[in-house]
Amino acid sequence: MCGIVGYVGEKKALPILMDKLEMLTYRGYDSAGVAVSENGHFYLKKTKGRVSDLEAIVDRDGVSGTVGLGHTRWATHGEPSTPNAHPHTDCTEKLVVVQNGIVENFWELKQDLMGKGHHFHSETDTEVIAHLIEEYYDGNITTAVNLAMQQMHGSMALLVLHKDEQDTLVAAKMDSPPLIVGFGRGENHVASDIPALLRYTNRIYPLEDGEVATIRRDKVIITNYREPETPRLSPPKVMVINWSPEVAKKDGYEHFMLKEIHEQPTTVNDTLRGRLPETADGMVEIPDLNLTAEEAQRIERLTLVACGTAYHACLVGKYLIEQALRIPVTVDVGSEYRYRAPLIGRNEVMVAISQSGETADTIASMREGMEQGAKVVAITNVLGSSVARLADGVLYTRAGPEMAVASTKAFVGQLVGLHLLTQFLAQHRELPAGMRERLLKMREELWRLPALIERILAESRPVQRLAKAISQQEACFFIGRNLDEPMAREGALKLKEISYIHSQGYAAGELKHGTLALLAPNVPVVALATQRAVYDKSVSNVQEVLARHAWVIGVAHEGDERLTDLVGRENMLTIPQSDDWLAPVLTAVQLQLLSYYTALELGRDIDQPRNLAKSVTVE
Ligand code: F6R
Repeated sequence: MCGIVGYVGEKKALPILMDKLEMLTYRGYDSAGVAVSENGHFYLKKTKGRVSDLEAIVDRDGVSGTVGLGHTRWATHGEPSTPNAHPHTDCTEKLVVVQNGIVENFWELKQDLMGKGHHFHSETDTEVIAHLIEEYYDGNITTAVNLAMQQMHGSMALLVLHKDEQDTLVAAKMDSPPLIVGFGRGENHVASDIPALLRYTNRIYPLEDGEVATIRRDKVIITNYREPETPRLSPPKVMVINWSPEVAKKDGYEHFMLKEIHEQPTTVNDTLRGRLPETADGMVEIPDLNLTAEEAQRIERLTLVACGTAYHACLVGKYLIEQALRIPVTVDVGSEYRYRAPLIGRNEVMVAISQSGETADTIASMREGMEQGAKVVAITNVLGSSVARLADGVLYTRAGPEMAVASTKAFVGQLVGLHLLTQFLAQHRELPAGMRERLLKMREELWRLPALIERILAESRPVQRLAKAISQQEACFFIGRNLDEPMAREGALKLKEISYIHSQGYAAGELKHGTLALLAPNVPVVALATQRAVYDKSVSNVQEVLARHAWVIGVAHEGDERLTDLVGRENMLTIPQSDDWLAPVLTAVQLQLLSYYTALELGRDIDQPRNLAKSVTVE
């Protein structure tokens, strides 16, 4: 999605803006631009392409202005092109605007503005904002932004700078796209994402829906465009982020994705720490989740909602929670949930899962759940994100910033979060015979996971060899049963998004209902067989595939014999022995490596795959 940065202080703004833009590139974008206020003019440069292309046309040291803004664009209205890149200006070129989101009524506003004589130079909805603010400007930029916001519908975050008020940036937020004010010494910052701020400050304030921030070097004033006369908390309540700037660097790895795969032992440890007792006695403590023992007892149904990889975590959660706790679980993708007129029952709890905490569809689903009376808790990775602020309670995954577009360590954090939730609920509920013992034993196994992941990471030669062969293929299938079924989907998503090889994940038993028609000699099928309860059936499905002469890559526990015998040891990927319910964490690591090395072999842009954005803040 689009990225926004801003700076107001005493230092030269341009190098700071360029550095911040560089920190946002991980989100995915197609053009970039900056504007710095300089001696009563704007130094404005923008271009289609990469931040490095912008770097080539700006004069980093030659511009002395100390206030400015910048943008990375991910096209929605109008193709990627230099005229469509932000910042945009008004007719008088007295103000510049950058925006992330969508102005839904931009067409009507544009017609009206053109009728009043405004001339447009791009196809974007953002240019409408510049002309609308121009129309309202009467000597006070904050007032003009408030009035313009009142005329627009949609979901957006914007940043504005006016020539006649050179010491002031105005930031505004409607609905979901994030916009964060960062507080420095003698300077203040704005960005759409925390990693862009980390080098400058760890003291932040994420704007709430409707808020307008007037940002100067020495103060920040927050109002709300829906009630501009009502004073807001000033200074705003500052949050302190404990991510270090170093975690947003590659640290010697060729790609963020590989670094993040290798960080997973730490993610598991950090997410468990202070919450899961290391022994069977002792209580699971997740105070921020804000669920009482009584509420935990009363839950009659859980609805898990998320998008993409986080949705796959929800599907794993369904298998786990229903089997362990016998609580019915409904799982929805965020983009569908609110449009299917969902029914919320009594004593229903919704669990929203999101790495970024900013996914528009997940947020909208939470609102729908809340409106219908559900208690809504979140599993998210970003402190102070929209999801975290909206939810009634939060379980933070402690994965640190995830920079690669493809989610890896955050997914593993989400799986561990779901285990913590299961353990927490279990201690307050009646369980089927033998389940309490299994769950208590699993506590030890959860603590062993980091060491087991390290073992997989230490021996990546088999997966590299298989990835090389997969990279020669045009399609790939993933199959599995029980908890392996969502993992098959996740394996396929990871492979397609970074290698661009067509891949699909299926319930293994479903192949014969249609998809077998696609299996021809040598088509790769990654068969997951880590669930002992359905192992025999998984092996039968592999037989069906082999009978069509497809090429099967097996994934099973170490010591596996039957599947290995069938597909050949050279076609096996193994995971260390663990409880079946923990296998998805280990399988995830093997499948992430398989995708990574396949994409590497194909020379893909692994951290920023084409057409994708890290955080999807529009519907
Ligand atoms: C795929 C991936 C996406 C995200 C999805 C939800 O690797 O990263 O599918 O999982 O866009 O994002 P969050 O978790 O930020 O809500």
